[in-house]
Amino acid sequence: MAQDRTFFVITIDGPAGAGKTTIARNLAQRLDFCMLDSGALYRTLALALLRAGVKPENQSVPAELLESIEISVEPDIGGMRLMLQSEDVSLRIRSEEVGNAASKFSAKPEVRKALLDIQRAVARKCDIVAEGRDMGAVVFPFAQAKFFITADPEERAKRRYSELMRKGEKPFYEQVLSDMAARDQRDETRALAPMIPADDATIIDTTTLTPQDVTERILERIEVIAGRAFKG
Ligand code: DC
Repeated sequence: MAQDRTFFVITIDGPAGAGKTTIARNLAQRLDFCMLDSGALYRTLALALLRAGVKPENQSVPAELLESIEISVEPDIGGMRLMLQSEDVSLRIRSEEVGNAASKFSAKPEVRKALLDIQRAVARKCDIVAEGRDMGAVVFPFAQAKFFITADPEERAKRRYSELMRKGEKPFYEQVLSDMAARDQRDETRALAPMIPADDATIIDTTTLTPQDVTERILERIEVIAGRAFKG
């Protein structure tokens, strides 16, 4: 694979609601690394496809349409900004509708292929914390430190429910739980790049841990792997 191996790559994979984004953001800030939220890329592409009238249930996505969609990422304080053509869609992509569509579109090989280069390009510019479903197993198999974080489904649904409440939405807990179960099932069972821990990933169950606990645990492990202390 033509990939610059100079930069340090940390991968954080796992299901929705496990705390990946918070932990990846904490780590990126503590280590002064860039952050790649790959789910946000899938969400941005899903938004573009929905706007173009493509249904997530369709068999495939036309190649010309995928080629015409311009997505770029810009570093932002504590994360990244998502640009679709020249529109900042960072907030717009956070709805449950877009998240569910992203999960469905992401099972299609042509969709995964369309986002591969843009993900790897981030790791050619800076040290990164990359979070998603297939970061350690597929996108960055050579990453120096890989983690898979998970939590009980009820705990993950509770976290997602609180997050939606904070955003001013009025979700039903049972609905959040069942949407999450459907999403897990799709992400785990798709033929291409299913959500599974890389062979060499450290698995962390965050059910009873705070994001701070998980961040500290990962930092300790990274310093062992790297053989040195990082700043921060
Ligand atoms: O992490 P998230 O909820 O923002 O991701 C939205 C969907 O995108 C997720 O349900 C599956 C898909 N996804 C993926 O297939 N591979 C990734 N590396 C990241 C996300």
